[in-house]
Amino acid sequence: MNKKLIIYAGVGLFITVGVAATHPPTSESSCKNCKVIPKNIDDEQMERLMHRMSHDLGSGCTFCHPFTKPGVNPMRVDFVTDELPAKNIARKMMIMTDKINKKYFGFKNDYSLEAMNSKLALNCNTCHRGLPKPNNHFSIPK
Ligand code: HEC
Ligand code: HEC
Repeated sequence: MNKKLIIYAGVGLFITVGVAATHPPTSESSCKNCKVIPKNIDDEQMERLMHRMSHDLGSGCTFCHPFTKPGVNPMRVDFVTDELPAKNIARKMMIMTDKINKKYFGFKNDYSLEAMNSKLALNCNTCHRGLPKPNNHFSIPK
């Protein structure tokens, strides 16, 4: 057998193992603290859902997810904590929206890309229209 071929095979194996190590298997749930969205949701879909939600409420991620406490290094946004009330209100709103959809529109939201793109039912934007408090839309400026 060709010596060169063995070396190539060895290098190939090394690269394969190396790549596998940087992408740990996603068998552990990718959403650590999901109570409404399926825990095994993939990161890409989670990101889409969160960007949609932020857009519908006209807010940034930090409306629901706070920065880490001073002294925690490196400073980052803590997506797992339930510290901000807005996050739990958002959960209740998700449950409410899902219930209305199921009962009155016969639509079951499974948080998939297909469900997300469906125009058949109610979503955050139906009420919020880019505002955190939809009823403030017609309020008189102070
Ligand atoms: C209106 C509130 C709200 C906004 C704005 C929001 N999120 Fe979330 N986010 C939630 C809620 C609620 C959950 C938990 C969902 C559940 O319990 O099923 C969550 C969960 C997450 C998680 C999973 C954390 C874990 O437990 O592992 C990530 C990551 C995340 N959000 C990222 C983002 C990003 C990035 C943005 C901005 C683009 C964003 N979120 C904006 C409400 C929000
Ligand atoms: C049927 C209409 C409706 C739908 C659908 C709806 N909301 Fe709401 N939402 C409201 C109303 C009304 C309020 C209360 C506004 C107020 O207090 O002035 C509110 C308040 C909130 C608040 C609190 C805002 C604040 O500043 O205190 C959050 C967060 C929120 N909704 C998130 C969501 C999310 C996320 C969705 C989609 C999963 C959603 N809502 C779907 C009507 C709706």
